Amino acid sequence: MVTNHTMVNEQMQFFLRGFRRDAHPMAILTGLVGGMSAFYHDSTDINNPKHREIAAIRLIAKMPTLVALSYKYKMGQPYMYPKNNLSYAGNFLRMMFGTPCEDYVVNPVIERALDRIFILHADHEQNASTSTVRLCASSGTNPFAAIAAGVACLWGPAHGGANEACLNMLEDIQAQGGVAKVGEFMEKVKDKNSGVKLMGFGHRVYKNYDPRAKLMQETCNEVLAELGLENDPLFKLAKELERIALEDEYFVSRKLYPNVDFYSGIVQRAIGIPVNLFTGVFALARTVGWIAQLNEMIGDPEYKIGRPRQLFTGSPSRDIPGFKR
Ligand SMILES: CC(C)(COP(=O)(O)OP(=O)(O)OC[C@H]1O[C@@H](n2cnc3c(N)ncnc32)[C@H](O)[C@@H]1OP(=O)(O)O)[C@@H](O)C(=O)NCCC(=O)NCCS
Repeated sequence: MVTNHTMVNEQMQFFLRGFRRDAHPMAILTGLVGGMSAFYHDSTDINNPKHREIAAIRLIAKMPTLVALSYKYKMGQPYMYPKNNLSYAGNFLRMMFGTPCEDYVVNPVIERALDRIFILHADHEQNASTSTVRLCASSGTNPFAAIAAGVACLWGPAHGGANEACLNMLEDIQAQGGVAKVGEFMEKVKDKNSGVKLMGFGHRVYKNYDPRAKLMQETCNEVLAELGLENDPLFKLAKELERIALEDEYFVSRKLYPNVDFYSGIVQRAIGIPVNLFTGVFALARTVGWIAQLNEMIGDPEYKIGRPRQLFTGSPSRDIPGFKR
């Protein structure tokens, strides 16, 4: 099903053209996903399970098309219509990197790597964007609007932006001298006063090892070998950081391991996905979790609108000039 409902309404192209070409892809994606709530009026009764299912399929199927549209728009290249005989990941690769001038042949190693990124990022319990989607949807709003709220939340660097931050860190070290500067950089990371962190290491929940990272590390090695990039300076640098951190007492004693973002950023960079689109790819993958969580919540007979409480700690009363108490 999700490899069938892949086309978006042709009107979306006009909406897309309203954006500046240099707009951040997440700004475009937030707008496009929200914009889909203006279509599909046949499936917006969220109390109807059939409608919810149709909206879920549409969202999951169309998200790769929207992400690829935002990329092609920035590149000034023609949009590639989806091809439904390809796999979910293969279709996305073709819409991203194909052009009408040549046949696009999907590389199975890259296709598998991307599929793994999608699966590993599909859901991760009550992270900020998922809670946002649930809270937003709890008012009974249009499902496309609720997912747009999730995209907006994911955009933040403290959430979906971690793999982008990791790649930016690698590029910074590379600009300062690359592998030769790793030791100096690590000293800064270990110095509490420097405020420098080794991006892509550590995790709030996984204190022993991020199980997703193991699989992503394998995938990373496969992709670099397939593309002949083992000697690319940036990837060599990443490997050196990984080697040192896995041996260094500071990281070992604190159980700080590379997390999924460390490797997924490297894989995406190797595939050719621009760094500022990493969070868009994450949003594409996380849509599966968002919509599943939304449906689970609305399907619960005891569900009510979300209403977090707030404790007011300010002044109990205040004098307003001109008003008598
Ligand atoms: C993810 C993260 C926020 C988890 O933070 P946390 O749960 O608060 O980590 P902890 O407080 O348990 O950290 C334990 C110790 O390791 C240090 N530490 C944690 N992550 C570190 C990192 N990436 N680089 C350097 N030191 C780190 C902390 O400073 C702390 O040191 P201390 O015990 O001497 O005070 C943190 O590891 C981090 O910022 N990582 C980099 C960003 C990143 O990759 N995020 C994506 C997560 S999927």
